[in-house]
Amino acid sequence: MRRAPGCLLRTSVAPAAALAAALLSSLARCSVLEPRDPVASSLSPYFGTKTRYEDVNPVLLSGPEAPWRDPELLEGTCTPVQLVALIRHGTRYPTAKQIRKLRQLHGLLQARGSRDGGASSTGSRDLGAALADWPLWYADWMDGQLVEKGRQDMRQLALRLASLFPALFSRENYGRLRLITSSKHRCMDSSAAFLQGLWQHYHPGLPPPDVADMEFGPPTVNDKLMRFFDHCKKFLTEVEKNATALYHVEAFKTGPEMQNILKKVAATLQVPVNDLNAGLSQFLLQSSSSLVMQRLFFHCFLSWATSKTRNP
Ligand SMILES: *[C@@H]1O[C@H](CO)[C@@H](O)[C@H](O)[C@H]1NC(C)=O
Repeated sequence: MRRAPGCLLRTSVAPAAALAAALLSSLARCSVLEPRDPVASSLSPYFGTKTRYEDVNPVLLSGPEAPWRDPELLEGTCTPVQLVALIRHGTRYPTAKQIRKLRQLHGLLQARGSRDGGASSTGSRDLGAALADWPLWYADWMDGQLVEKGRQDMRQLALRLASLFPALFSRENYGRLRLITSSKHRCMDSSAAFLQGLWQHYHPGLPPPDVADMEFGPPTVNDKLMRFFDHCKKFLTEVEKNATALYHVEAFKTGPEMQNILKKVAATLQVPVNDLNAGLSQFLLQSSSSLVMQRLFFHCFLSWATSKTRNP
């Protein structure tokens, strides 16, 4: 995937763009535990609806902690005084619900395999059979938790931001750092990893202490703000529980384009399309529907702000 250099630069510099990049950042429904695995790395951009930092900006693959920005931007023309970023949690495991659906699909493929011996009409082993043989190693406890790659996402992001805005992240500004997170475990863990990255920036080589013992920690938990979709009455009554407002989402999910995709998937896996329709389609179509549903998009993020302003 190639990007116009202009976009690349903007995401590296402007806070608003950093926010957008952060919102679009890392989610892996199929979490990658080994970031250097070439097969996993080449497949990862196709999972989930959130683009990973390294896929947006391939320069990160060779220098994940090095700041990079357009030399022409900000050069002697303006001074950053405040940075506000909305940061999505790092790479995580699938949720328990997603794992359940994966098992269902896996079971469907295994049942199909034992029916016809795993051989396609041409006699060769097909994709469905290969997937049925894949060891489904996700366990219930994983339930959307942050993986090690997710911690690394956050540590490296903190290091890049701190190096990119040295004046904002100066020691004298310690007391001005504010980190707000939702209570979701993956967000709390992301906040902790982010703070560990900052600690690394200020104390290179020293092992980070507990987040509670850091000068700029711990983060403030504020679900009313960060999970507004669970608390905002207007949103709940006028959108979330309003079939009229969500009419187009349903129309999209059950429309002819989606049915075509389902048919193609069913044909590739050689299973009856009706078997996919029974609840599983929801899973297969999740990527598409979450593009429509803002609620899923804003699932959880943490907010972080630092200010250099001298006002009390
Ligand atoms: C539900 O959504 C429709 C369409 O957006 C809107 O006109 C209506 O006022 C909403 N209903 C409620 C109870 O908010």
